[in-house]
Amino acid sequence: MENKWLNEAFKGEVPSGFQGKVGWQSPSNIALVKYWGKKGKQNPQNPSISFTLSECCSETFISFEKADRLDFRFFFEGKENPAFGAKIEKFLLDYQAFFPFINQLALTVESRNTFPHSSGIASSASSMSAFVICLLDIESKLVGPSTGSGSLDLCKASYLSRLASGSAARSVYPKMALWGATDCYKDSSDEYAVSLADDIHSVFKTYRDSILIVSGEQKSVSSRAGHALMEGNPYAPARYAQANENIKNLLSALKSGDLDTFINITESEALQLHALMMCSNPSYILMKPNTLNLINEIREFRQETKIPLCFTLDAGPNVHLLYPESEAEKVEDYIKNVLADYCDRDRWIIDHVGEGPKKLQ
Ligand code: PMV
Repeated sequence: MENKWLNEAFKGEVPSGFQGKVGWQSPSNIALVKYWGKKGKQNPQNPSISFTLSECCSETFISFEKADRLDFRFFFEGKENPAFGAKIEKFLLDYQAFFPFINQLALTVESRNTFPHSSGIASSASSMSAFVICLLDIESKLVGPSTGSGSLDLCKASYLSRLASGSAARSVYPKMALWGATDCYKDSSDEYAVSLADDIHSVFKTYRDSILIVSGEQKSVSSRAGHALMEGNPYAPARYAQANENIKNLLSALKSGDLDTFINITESEALQLHALMMCSNPSYILMKPNTLNLINEIREFRQETKIPLCFTLDAGPNVHLLYPESEAEKVEDYIKNVLADYCDRDRWIIDHVGEGPKKLQ
């Protein structure tokens, strides 16, 4: 597959006068079975499954113009950001064999997130997938007539997004995605994610995710460092075996609409992710007291009301509250009346399962 995309890359001369602007919006995603631990070049130690979100997105525009060599500038929310720019430029240079035409272009990237700054929501999945899709859009203008979103090769976009940021591989598909090779799903791969949209019960196609912001502070340990710490973690082999088991059972629950199994696996995965952090060396804790308060409240509320809501956590203190659309009114009242008290300055974001990347320009 790698060779196919390397072979396909536009390697010709960029015509003089070639210039323009492309823009794409790409969403964040929230993993249910977590990717935690890598091998080789951005390959996952175990498969993962996520919901694609709708409201939490990055919007990226790239202005391009024929040049003698790569000239790269990066603006985030209106301001030039050399630190973030250097990271993205490094990705471009590391993987330039996939985009050889960049060496004949001046690129100005402007990116912003639709979710509030300092909300503690990781933006690498949305921003890197938006960036990669913009590059593929520029390439499509070089190889043929201007193409719309219909002709975007999502598998290639997923493959290249993965090289930039692992979980970004899953952001390119509508509804739900699976990333990582598993015998339980045909055509699954460590190198790119695949869509699960046709294999899920209708209840999951409109699922809600309300993100309860416990803290918007920068994480004390990055995901990159967290993945690396899995290498010496004595529980790693058991974790990878358990993740594979959870994938098998979750795929079947997603198909049948079995919410009890969905809730069991989703909450267990979130707690395992944080347990792995606590027993790595050095150990660390990303949950805050209000993360635990929210978890306890949510479990109590579920027991009392029988409403099938549950939580998951990313690599941070914020709580993602997951529930069927049919329960939205009751759950959102409950957030306003009870859970908001545990949030940083009452902040929470209502999101839901979304349709994947959208062309802006
Ligand atoms: O894509 P990365 O390297 O930022 O890792 C993401 C890890 C988790 O968000 C914790 C889990 C996941 O599968 O998204």
